[in-house]
Parts: sequence; structure tokens; C-alpha cells
Amino acid sequence: MGAGIAEVLARSGVEVVGVEVDDAGLERGKGHIEASTGKAVARGKLTEAEQKELVGRISFGTDVTAVKDCELVIEAIPERMELKRELFTALDGLLAPEAVIATNTSALSVTELATGTSRPSRVVGLHWFNPAPVMGLVEVVRTVVTDPSVVEDVEALVARIGKTDVTAGDRAGFIANALLFGYLNNAVRMLESRYATADDIDAAMRFGCGHPMGPLALLDLIGLDSAYEILDTMYHQTRDHLHAPSPILKQLVTAGFLGRKTGRGFYSYEEPDSPKVVSGAAAAEAAEPVRRIGRV
Ligand code: CAA
Repeated sequence: MGAGIAEVLARSGVEVVGVEVDDAGLERGKGHIEASTGKAVARGKLTEAEQKELVGRISFGTDVTAVKDCELVIEAIPERMELKRELFTALDGLLAPEAVIATNTSALSVTELATGTSRPSRVVGLHWFNPAPVMGLVEVVRTVVTDPSVVEDVEALVARIGKTDVTAGDRAGFIANALLFGYLNNAVRMLESRYATADDIDAAMRFGCGHPMGPLALLDLIGLDSAYEILDTMYHQTRDHLHAPSPILKQLVTAGFLGRKTGRGFYSYEEPDSPKVVSGAAAAEAAEPVRRIGRV
């Protein structure tokens, strides 16, 4: 997700400092940017010269102090409050007092993150959609303490990069995920109860409802670990059974089947990060854990 956000900003002329947790993450992020911009060139959305300029605007590293002069930092690390709070504390100590810290959290409390810093009025949610270079929406999340001028500034940034912003208060799921995740969870329940196959559930929504991808393929794209954390947070906040994560999700996550990023989730992919689903015997074998869970 971080790579996609960096790509979108750099494409609009913003100088970006991309910081990853380690070298392996950095290579993966760079690979994402190369593949995504390569695709944009192949589809005539970007010229080769623009691609070079775009990549040249991003400096890459693994040391968080590299962001110390940035006016805006967008955090996009795993959906775990303790990790985010730790990073926010480090950023708070590092950045100029007027700098804005944004979180890409999908469901965690932006207010809790804000109040853990010395600048709660300069913390905001900036929630992106996967794949960031393609999806047109960014949700802006304001807390009760966010300075209205900070909200205006990030809304202006979203407009500058050619995306549509919607602004919401700080409730788990904001607007889009609050509507989307009940549906995704119900699709998993359908599979779990062996009501229908993964292929049929996805085909129903693609061909019957015109969605670009079915719910299980979408969960694989989002990442089953992220999806589980989002649902769990929403469930704890709303107590609505609609968001109680279907058990199969946790089981797949525990087994390391996180979706496209690990090459296996509800579907099996050619390799990690590949969008290409393998078919035939390999797919049948890959679906076996899902079927087994369904039988228990
Ligand atoms: N820059 C610009 N354009 C790009 C690009 C890039 N880096 N990469 C791809 N594109 C363009 C392609 O050129 C193509 O455009 P055209 O159709 O005009 O040629 C378009 O984007 C689609 O690209 P692909 O052909 O590679 O992919 P596809 O047609 O198979 O679609 C998909 C893939 C975009 C993922 C589509 O299936 C889709 O929209 N799926 C739904 C995704 C979705 O719902 N995301 C939200 C998830 S929820 C979330 O993220 C929030 C959260 O908190 C979890």
C-alpha cells in the first residue's frame, strides 16, 4: 500500500521519502512501483520519460529519520495499534511541530493515535484504496481535535493528485469499509458453510452485479490479515455480528495464507504479489485448505 501511495504522490510532482521497515520490504516496495508504473507505460497512461521522473522523485530507505524534514508523513504499516503508536511517538519526536502526521488505518481509532502525540490537532486519517494508483477515492478522517485547516490542506492534496476525497468522522470503517466489510464477511460465511464455491460466489457478484472482482478475490487483494484486523476492530466497536470475522479468515491468516501478497489466500497465485490465479490441479490443491476448513 505504501508503494502505491508513494507512486500516486510522486506522479503528481510531490517529492516523496519512502521508508520501509527492512531491506526486504524496500525491495518489495520498489518492485511494486516498477511493475505498476511499467504497466501504466504499457497501457499508454505514462510515457517512459514520465516514469523515470516519477521514480526519481522517490528516495528510498529503511531509516525513519529520513522523513524528519517532511511536511506530511503518511503512515501505512500493519493494522496493529501498538505498532502504530510506537511509530507515531517516534515521528512526533522527529518532525517539525507544524508537520502533519496522517494514518492510512482502515479501522483503528485516529483519535487514539492523535492523542498519543504532542500534536493531536495535526493528526488526520488519510485512507487509501487498493490498488492506490488505480482507485479514485481517498477518505479523509477528522477527529474531534483535528484542526480544520489540516483537514482542508489534506483535502487540497487529494484534489491535487487527481483523486476524489470524502470526509468522515472517526468511526471504525469510516464510510467505504463500514459498508464493504459486512458484505465481504458474508461472502466468507457463504463459503465456510459450503453454501457455494469460491468461484461461484465471485462470479455471482462480477457478472450479476457488475463488480470488477468478486468478494473473495477482493479479500485476497486487500490481504486476509488486514481484512481480519479491520473486521475485528469494527466488531469490537459496533458489537454488530455482521462484522464478527468469519472463523475461516483467522485460520487462513494463521496458516500464512494472506492472499495475493503471499501467493495464496482463497485462491492460489502464480507467485507472491502476482494477480494471476493458477488453474487446474494446482488450483484444486490450493483450494484444499479452504475446503478442509469448510468440512470441520
Ligand atoms: N497508473 C495508472 N493507471 C494504472 C496503473 C498505474 N500504476 N496500473 C493500472 N492502471 C490502470 C490500467 O491501465 C487499467 O486502465 P484501463 O482499463 O483504462 O486500461 C486499469 O488501471 C485497470 O488495470 P488492470 O488492467 O491491470 O487491472 P484489471 O482491469 O484487472 O483491474 C483492479 C484490476 C483495478 C484491481 C479491478 O479488479 C478493481 O477495481 N477491483 C476492485 C478493487 C477494490 O475494490 N479496491 C478497494 C478495496 S478496499 C480497500 O482497499 C480499503 C481497505 O481499507 C481495505
